[in-house]
Amino acid sequence: MGFKEYYRAFPTYTKIESKEYKGRVETLGPILIKYMNKNRGKVLDLACGVGGFSFFLEDLGFDVVGLDNNPEMIEAAKRYAEKRSSKVNFVVGDAKNLPFENNSFDYVIFIDSIFHFTPSELNQVFKEVKRVIKPEGRFLIYFTDLRELLPNLKERLVIGEKYWVNRITTDTSERIATIEFKSEDDEFRVEFNIWGKTGVELLAKLYFTKEAEEKVGGYSYLIVYNPK
Ligand SMILES: C[S@@+](CC[C@H](N)C(=O)[O-])C[C@H]1O[C@@H](n2cnc3c(N)ncnc32)[C@H](O)[C@@H]1O
Repeated sequence: MGFKEYYRAFPTYTKIESKEYKGRVETLGPILIKYMNKNRGKVLDLACGVGGFSFFLEDLGFDVVGLDNNPEMIEAAKRYAEKRSSKVNFVVGDAKNLPFENNSFDYVIFIDSIFHFTPSELNQVFKEVKRVIKPEGRFLIYFTDLRELLPNLKERLVIGEKYWVNRITTDTSERIATIEFKSEDDEFRVEFNIWGKTGVELLAKLYFTKEAEEKVGGYSYLIVYNPK
């Protein structure tokens, strides 16, 4: 809820040329490729948004499919693709019900997206990833541990050029955080599913074996999995 406004307000996930988006690719890209050692193979960029990580991997020689359930994101990704003469195949689709054959991908990357999913939804996503990934493939998931971050996220914290965090509330079961963003002329709320590293790992254990993990910055993790 509120994601339309969120993605409109912040360029971090929508404007590939912005310093915020470039910063994410520059930080995470080199860490991802440490675990994608062949520089070739088929990659699914799951919940790809406007495709910045898809292009990064294509430029290194990977054959990339980007999937997102938001048609506006995919339209924007296709516009970027056209500008760069990219061959990435961008498709609208649901991460919980992937339109791909079993054992189709060498790698699935899933970046900055788990807060969109409830526990039962993320379970479906993991199940689908396990189905579409090759037995010797790797699943690379990158996320921010909201359980760690939220107590350190202060109201009045300035985000980007003009917004600040006005209010943070969590539901009684502490599964959903509602963050109210405000600027001089705008305000909106976004509901994030609260995922901590422990929860992600417990769920992933049903389908994958952990191969590696890296802490990236204060509260974010890259975890590399093999299908069971
Ligand atoms: C914060 S963005 C991250 C996009 C991209 N991975 C990146 O790092 O730039 C999260 C993305 O998840 C997508 N998303 C949310 N629910 C989804 C679903 N059920 N299936 C596919 N994509 C989904 C949203 O549309 C959004 O583009």
